[in-house]
Amino acid sequence: MATNVDAAAHSEPSNSEPAQKQQKQTIDPYNVQGEVDEHGVVQAIDYNKLVDEFGTKKIDQELLDRLERVTGKRPHHFLRRGIVFSHRDLELILDRYERGQPFFLYTGRGPSSDSVHVGHTIPFEFTKWLQDTFDVPLIIMLTDDEKYLFSEKRTIEEVQGYCSSNAKDIIAIGFDPAKTFIFSDFDYVGGAFYRNIVRLSKHITLNQARAIFGFNESTNIGRIHFGSIQGATSWASSFPHIFGEDEKETVGIPALIPCAIDQDPYFRMTRDVSARLRYQGKSYAKPSLIHSLFLPALQGPGTKMSASIDESAIFMRDTPNQIKNKINRHAFSGGKVSEEEHRQLGGDTTVDVAFQYLRFFLEDDEELEKIKVAYEAGEMLTGELKAVCIRELQKYVASFQGRRANVDDETVKLFMERRPLKWGGNPRAPVVVPKVENGDGDEAAADGEGKMTKNQLKKLEKLKQAEAKKAQKAKEKAEQAAAKAAEPSAAV
Ligand code: TRP
Repeated sequence: MATNVDAAAHSEPSNSEPAQKQQKQTIDPYNVQGEVDEHGVVQAIDYNKLVDEFGTKKIDQELLDRLERVTGKRPHHFLRRGIVFSHRDLELILDRYERGQPFFLYTGRGPSSDSVHVGHTIPFEFTKWLQDTFDVPLIIMLTDDEKYLFSEKRTIEEVQGYCSSNAKDIIAIGFDPAKTFIFSDFDYVGGAFYRNIVRLSKHITLNQARAIFGFNESTNIGRIHFGSIQGATSWASSFPHIFGEDEKETVGIPALIPCAIDQDPYFRMTRDVSARLRYQGKSYAKPSLIHSLFLPALQGPGTKMSASIDESAIFMRDTPNQIKNKINRHAFSGGKVSEEEHRQLGGDTTVDVAFQYLRFFLEDDEELEKIKVAYEAGEMLTGELKAVCIRELQKYVASFQGRRANVDDETVKLFMERRPLKWGGNPRAPVVVPKVENGDGDEAAADGEGKMTKNQLKKLEKLKQAEAKKAQKAKEKAEQAAAKAAEPSAAV
């Protein structure tokens, strides 16, 4: 049992680095930094302010309750703890799931190095949970072109090289190959995808791109255009091998995009264009979003982990010993300077990095609550808290490394091959009754009807409606049972 408060951790918050000028919080795809106050001290990122500025919605208890009712599954601990905290139109995706209508998941990674850290795995862990929960196709974009365009030094060969190792890291999270397509922009741009990229780019002016991303006259034009590539991946019609060739149908299938909040500007832009675009009279589905906050750097909650700063991050290839040393030496502590003072006043869990990491990696709600209470009361010391954090991170990284060792080049090839995917969707959804008349109805059910007489069609319709009623009843029953089961659960 540690008896000393880890005083060393106090001396090195990121804020004591070269004096910075006072600066507003900046969060966009290319910058993530909390406000810098008049003393040059970096503040924790203010996520509520982001929700206001970006115009997204906070995920509230009501929405979580609905998610639980609709899926019959307890929300992931990232949702319960506000780590996945904001969204755009998640309700519309739940509506579709309830009705058994198709949607898909889309997320991505910029392959900027071989050094994947625990901060990178957060959105992917959550994406895996969404895939397991909804049983829908998942598309993972590797933006090798972006990482080339947004770096002064990197070569095309270098970023392409990172694609394969990054794909292995992503696969090691545990995605289902039958439902997952991973692609690199350099390989996949062309055909239906390129047509969508150009459609999107035609509807974005230079003024808009400047306003959204802060570009200026010296920005290379590749960067200015890149948003149309990341955006066009939100449209199902970019993937005919998965969703079919019939664009009139596929333009109506929306994406749900799990991402860190800094990626929101790309999709705000895509949503605006989707609302204005038509394909033969049918409108493009706007992507929905679900946003996570950042895993803080070891130095404190004002910045995220950086792959290029070794002491800022726990890497997925770190040894147990490296993890221990990094946490002990660098993790910013919310404890007090002396044991005496700590015992008297208690620690601050809101800035304590070891505690913050436990919110991400310790799944047991009760244990987490116990630690919080004990640390804030001064009964638990920083050394003890760090020991728990080290144990949990070592476990997390070791189990990842075990899975990663089994991913080879063949597996990567399989995930990146253009092929149809197989998925089930909502097993409890009522059967979707397809519209008989040709027209601007919603997407029809996947099974085609062939040519039938009017009478046959009528009969079929009746049958389907009866089935739908039955399924609806069964669903309501299941929902009631789920709601009952959820009632006494403790909120965290
Ligand atoms: N631009 C992202 C990055 O640099 C990668 C990315 C592409 C992405 N499409 C996405 C991330 C969709 C989240 C969701 O990492």
